Amino acid sequence: MIKVAVLGYGTVGSGVVEVLEKNSEALSKKALDELSVKYILDLRDFPGDPHEDKIVHDYKQIVEDEEIKIICETMGGVGAAYEFTKQALMAGKSVCTSNKELVALHGPELIALAKENKCNYLFEASVGGGIPIIRPINCALTAEKIEVIAGILNGTTNYILSKMEKEGAEFETVLKEAQELGYAERNPEADVEGHDACRKIAILSSLMLGKHVDYSKIYTEGITKITPVDFAYAKAMGMSIKLLAVSKECDDKAFAMVSPRMISAEHPLHMVNDVFNAVFVTGNMLGDSMYYGKGAGKLPTASAVVGDVVDCARHLGKTVTCIWDSEEAPLMDVADAQNKFFFRVKTGNEERVKDVFGNPEAVKLPGVEDEVAYVTGSLTEKDFAQKYEKIADICVGNRIRVGF
Ligand code: HSE
Repeated sequence: MIKVAVLGYGTVGSGVVEVLEKNSEALSKKALDELSVKYILDLRDFPGDPHEDKIVHDYKQIVEDEEIKIICETMGGVGAAYEFTKQALMAGKSVCTSNKELVALHGPELIALAKENKCNYLFEASVGGGIPIIRPINCALTAEKIEVIAGILNGTTNYILSKMEKEGAEFETVLKEAQELGYAERNPEADVEGHDACRKIAILSSLMLGKHVDYSKIYTEGITKITPVDFAYAKAMGMSIKLLAVSKECDDKAFAMVSPRMISAEHPLHMVNDVFNAVFVTGNMLGDSMYYGKGAGKLPTASAVVGDVVDCARHLGKTVTCIWDSEEAPLMDVADAQNKFFFRVKTGNEERVKDVFGNPEAVKLPGVEDEVAYVTGSLTEKDFAQKYEKIADICVGNRIRVGF
């Protein structure tokens, strides 16, 4: 029997215990041994809970117990979770986590520590919740040179944008509704400003490159400035607006950016709505592939953690290869990145727009007389910013990138 400990009995932690229990028979066969939860670490007590007897408050009890071979870190944060993870790995205990902040910040160090101690640090649940994406990049797609990763990696913002699109509603209104329904956090900043997606694309980019991509250096823009008018134009052009986290390898440098983008109806990411996530991957041999599913929630996320537990159980005493060196991947200067841009201008300024941008494609909305929108050809960010500055006095709304 393989004894497991769970750190944090919150949404994901309790989900991990539930998955291990509900699927225990099948899991025993797949893990080649029975898996049993011995401890659950939490600050709180859970009187009346069926697992009340497993609750402990002192981590020492877990890390010093020889019987514990696998630890599920579902606490979140980068303080105690970091210390506990290091202590576990140094004691030769594998750690499976859903903690994207910790993986994005200390991934290479913890992976190296696992290797030194012949155990594993696995983090399938840290990106895309229940969607398999870490293992595909590390294993199934290992023959590929991955050229592009583009993901809808945040369920909250995808829910808000989908609702704005469907109902023609304002961002603030939909956010408030989402908070009331419990879909959005009371402090929604990490989601709506793109920070959550930024950490997730940093993890995927690091695995794509095998080097560390520092999330704090990734250009990140959230969805707070998107309006129903933007959606009306997107619809007129057969497009939708999604918060996309994009990563590419360009001339030995990594390009990574999180921003809202208009996506054409022909692209598979266009149909990813509500709280769903998807990761679109282009490999040099396979071409395009997409991984789609529930990117958050108790059981989908717990399922990914338990999938890692099984992998650890199958590899006790061995380390599963994961190439993510601590060497920092050089990031391309965002100013040099090429994009197409959508922008809106007050009517009567067509000549000025032409003087500055050449001949961008014009888009008009039926019944709207006081403004016209344009879509540029491919320009560097720097070039676009300089041109846009020249017509700042006649612009309305916000510019949005088109495609990727
Ligand atoms: N806040 C995240 C989301 C949870 O909305 O996708 C999963 O990481």
